[in-house]
Amino acid sequence: MSDIILGIESSCDDTSAAVVRDGLLLSNVIASQKVHEAFGGVVPELASRAHIQNIVPVVSEALRQAGVSKEELSAIAFTRGPGLLGSLLVGTSFAKGLAISLGIPTVDVNHLHGHVLAQFVRSSADDEVPEFPFMCLLISGGNSQIIMVRSPHEMEILGRTIDDAAGEAFDKCAKLLGLPYPGGPHIDRLAAQGDSSRFKFAKPHIPELDYSFSGLKTSFLYTLRDALRKDSEFIEQNKSDLAASLQQTIIDILLDKLAKAVEKHPVKHLAIGGGVSANSGVREAVARFCEQRGIRAWIPPRAFTTDNAAMVAIAGYFKFLRGETASLDLPPYSRVTI
Ligand code: KG4
Repeated sequence: MSDIILGIESSCDDTSAAVVRDGLLLSNVIASQKVHEAFGGVVPELASRAHIQNIVPVVSEALRQAGVSKEELSAIAFTRGPGLLGSLLVGTSFAKGLAISLGIPTVDVNHLHGHVLAQFVRSSADDEVPEFPFMCLLISGGNSQIIMVRSPHEMEILGRTIDDAAGEAFDKCAKLLGLPYPGGPHIDRLAAQGDSSRFKFAKPHIPELDYSFSGLKTSFLYTLRDALRKDSEFIEQNKSDLAASLQQTIIDILLDKLAKAVEKHPVKHLAIGGGVSANSGVREAVARFCEQRGIRAWIPPRAFTTDNAAMVAIAGYFKFLRGETASLDLPPYSRVTI
């Protein structure tokens, strides 16, 4: 008999549902929330309300696209955290309610494990996956971490940000340029037409494999402030070069620590994950970085970099195979590490 897992993701501002059968993806549906754009960031209460509106149609559509009836499901995997508590409550409660009505177990998934295990989302058994152990650079709106992945269940953080995440650096600097939220994709688009060597911004000097992005944000802010005093059109006239230089600085910071990480912990496979791994410059730079060192690079399709339920379903599938189902009184958690 097949193991069919429904995955549900609602940790921030994307409502998503996906179905995997025996570890292969059948569907992945995502409803993004446009309501936050006007506020320049995610408004938690509005996110929870939008999840409530979206969750039933998104789950129905995922089942329809998969050609699976809810009675055929073996288990329901849901993101337990980290994330916004109100948003998580919607997915968690829905998963529990549906599971009770169907008489099947739930599986709780750590969102960060999901991002790492996105490498294993595949639609055919012939599609290759990374070999354990591999290193993963997890870069999203809330996290920047270098992780050693020994198995789907054993992960060790080698380095992490001590302040802002890489995604926050993209988004906060983009906001200073007057770009809409989330700014990362806008910087990516503008950077493609800009000169990345035009402006220099501060890079951190912190020990070991940890990251820091708050100094870069301040340096970007001061560059704009000083230039705007002399020329009020400065941002408009230099937007692409500012975006390209910012993106390049973030890439340099990320790769500098990654180089130290692979020197200290040699690996044959290296993956990237999380929303910032959708960035064109990051993808190219990591591919080149790996090629130069004889490391096999795993760069997921863009649809599986930002928040999605396919990664939750696959992470849940790995736990389900080990019999690790969740108790129904398990609450969501807003903060948790890997
Ligand atoms: O993984 P994700 O969807 O949510 C979290 O779990 O945080 O990541 C969202 C982050 C945002 O900061 C967004 O600006 C960034 O990923 N992002 C990008 C790109 N696409 C998404 N950053 C740079 N370039 C992109 N193309």
